[in-house]
Amino acid sequence: MKLEACIFDLDGVIVDTAGYHYLAWKRIGTELGFDFTEEMNETMKGISRYDSLGKLLEFGNITISEEEKQRLCVVKNDYYLDSLSDMNHENILPGVVSLLDELKEKNVKIALGSASKNAIKVLDLIGIKERFEVIVDGNSVSRSKPDPEVFIKGATELGVSPAHTIVFEDSNKGLDAAIAGGFKTVGLGSPEHLGHADIVLPGLGEVSLSDILHQLTSTTMTA
Ligand code: BG6
Ligand code: MG
Repeated sequence: MKLEACIFDLDGVIVDTAGYHYLAWKRIGTELGFDFTEEMNETMKGISRYDSLGKLLEFGNITISEEEKQRLCVVKNDYYLDSLSDMNHENILPGVVSLLDELKEKNVKIALGSASKNAIKVLDLIGIKERFEVIVDGNSVSRSKPDPEVFIKGATELGVSPAHTIVFEDSNKGLDAAIAGGFKTVGLGSPEHLGHADIVLPGLGEVSLSDILHQLTSTTMTA
C-alpha cells in the first residue's frame, strides 16, 4: 500500500508547546486553589480549550458559572500567549524538519490537524506554515478530539484516504480520534499513554520515514 499523506498534530508533535499549555493551566489551578499535576494534564492533551477547562474544574472539584468559564478560557489563553513571546524556529521538535523534507521529496502530502485556535500563529512564529498544504485547526472544526472530524477534514481537503495516511499524535485523545477515523497512527511519547497507536516512538528525532514505514510493516506501507 502506498503512503499518500501525513497529518501532524501541532502541540507536542511539531513544536514544544505542550509544556506551555500545561504551565498556563497549572497557573489557573493555583489561582483556583489546587495543584494541577502533570498526570492530570496528560488526560487534557489534545482537547479543546473549553473542554480542557471542564476537566480541570473536575479535578479541582469546582463548580463555576458559564460566564466565569468563558473568562477563565480567556485568562488561560493570555497566559499561554505570553509564554510564546520568544518562540522561534528553535522550538521545532527534533526530527520534524528532516521528516517534512523527506515527505516533500517523496511527494507525500502534508497537513496539520490541531485542536488549537492558535495553530496558525504558532506555525508562523516557528516559520514552517508554508510546508502544510492543508491546515485544520480549532477554528475550523466543530467537534474536539477524540472525535475524528479534524483528521477526516484534513484527509478530505488533501484528497487522500485515511487508510493511506499516517497521523502523528502525542495525545491519547488525538490517537483515539485518528483510530476512529481509520488512519494509520504513530504515537509520540510514552507507550504507557499511547499504547493504542500502531507504533509508539519517543519522538521524531533520529528516525527516518523508512524507519517509520518499516515499523508499520503490518500495514505494508511504502512511500
Ligand atoms: C491542543 C493542545 O493542541 O490544543 C491542548 O494539546 C490545547 O492542550 C488545545 O488545549 C487547544 O489549544 P488553544 O491554543 O486553542 O487553547
Ligand atoms: Mg498534541
